[in-house]
Amino acid sequence: MKLIDSFGRQINYLRLSVTDRCNLRCKYCMSADGVAACQHNDILPYESLHLIAETAISMGIEKIRITGGEPLVRNGIVPFLARLSGIEGLRHLALSTNGILLPEMAQDLSLAGVQRLNISMDSLQEEKYRKITRGGELKKVFEGLKAAAKAGFPPPKINVVAMRGFNDDEILDFTEMTKNYGFSVRFIEYMPTLDQANWQKQEISGQEILDLISSKYELEEVEKGPYAGPSRDFRIPGATGSIGIITAVSGHFCATCNRIRITSTGKAKSCLFSNQETDLNPWLQSGDKAGIRQQLEELIEKKPECHALSINGYEHDNFLMSQVGG
Ligand code: 5AD
Ligand code: SF4
Repeated sequence: MKLIDSFGRQINYLRLSVTDRCNLRCKYCMSADGVAACQHNDILPYESLHLIAETAISMGIEKIRITGGEPLVRNGIVPFLARLSGIEGLRHLALSTNGILLPEMAQDLSLAGVQRLNISMDSLQEEKYRKITRGGELKKVFEGLKAAAKAGFPPPKINVVAMRGFNDDEILDFTEMTKNYGFSVRFIEYMPTLDQANWQKQEISGQEILDLISSKYELEEVEKGPYAGPSRDFRIPGATGSIGIITAVSGHFCATCNRIRITSTGKAKSCLFSNQETDLNPWLQSGDKAGIRQQLEELIEKKPECHALSINGYEHDNFLMSQVGG
């Protein structure tokens, strides 16, 4: 079965946020004290998350990405994933993590059926990493990368939020990582989600990143895989990994958007930058699969053609990425 929205886009990808909590406090994602964490009771129980996943898969969703906050800080995540990966019709199960807990969890995640990891890492320098994450230890992320390889995961995708004045001097160092270890490094344009004056000053466009990399390396464009995300991908000839550019702000990729999202409190969203959301809780509480299905169908029908975020401004209300799941 195919899920097609009113602009002819096939929706086959669900991002499921399982918690708004995190063991880091990245400056662009959370406030320093993480106070906005939701009440524990508001976070969906695993039973509800499973019901949403099962319903979405029966409608035509083929890929699920588990996000947070940081999904690995939620108790019971491994058995939940093991059950999720067993749902018939699910073709791809991926997880986004900051990598801090991978040294102890990578093996279990692999056994639970997670197929691919995305790891967020905005600096390769200890001090800067500590600063942007407000206390994180970069060493642990590198240990996490090793643990993931040992557990048999394919080389993770590394997500780098590009920020002028912070990591623009590391773009070539990240690029180097794609040469020998098979990592796919994806540079994401910084998105204004929290109220921040002059956010544009931090912005580095995907084009600028590409120009910089191209000044040192010849790049060839890479064909997209079947469940590929919104990045444009390139490779240094002969490199084992690729370089992705996610132009969340400068160039809309809305025309090929294939995703919907569920927040950790059970709100379904058809676009990260739309204020429109559907609260699934009334249907989850009564275990009403047909009701959830109908709500998701309506949401997909109303999925906007494009978001209104650009370098000139935006229309969405501020939100915490940790609650929506990136
Ligand atoms: N701008 C760009 N990327 C962001 N992420 C979180 N907040 C932002 C933001 N404001 C990224 C995280 C993670 C992914 C899920 O989204 O770093 O890699
Ligand atoms: Fe945690 Fe990811 Fe947000 Fe950083 S960006 S605080 S790692 S959820």
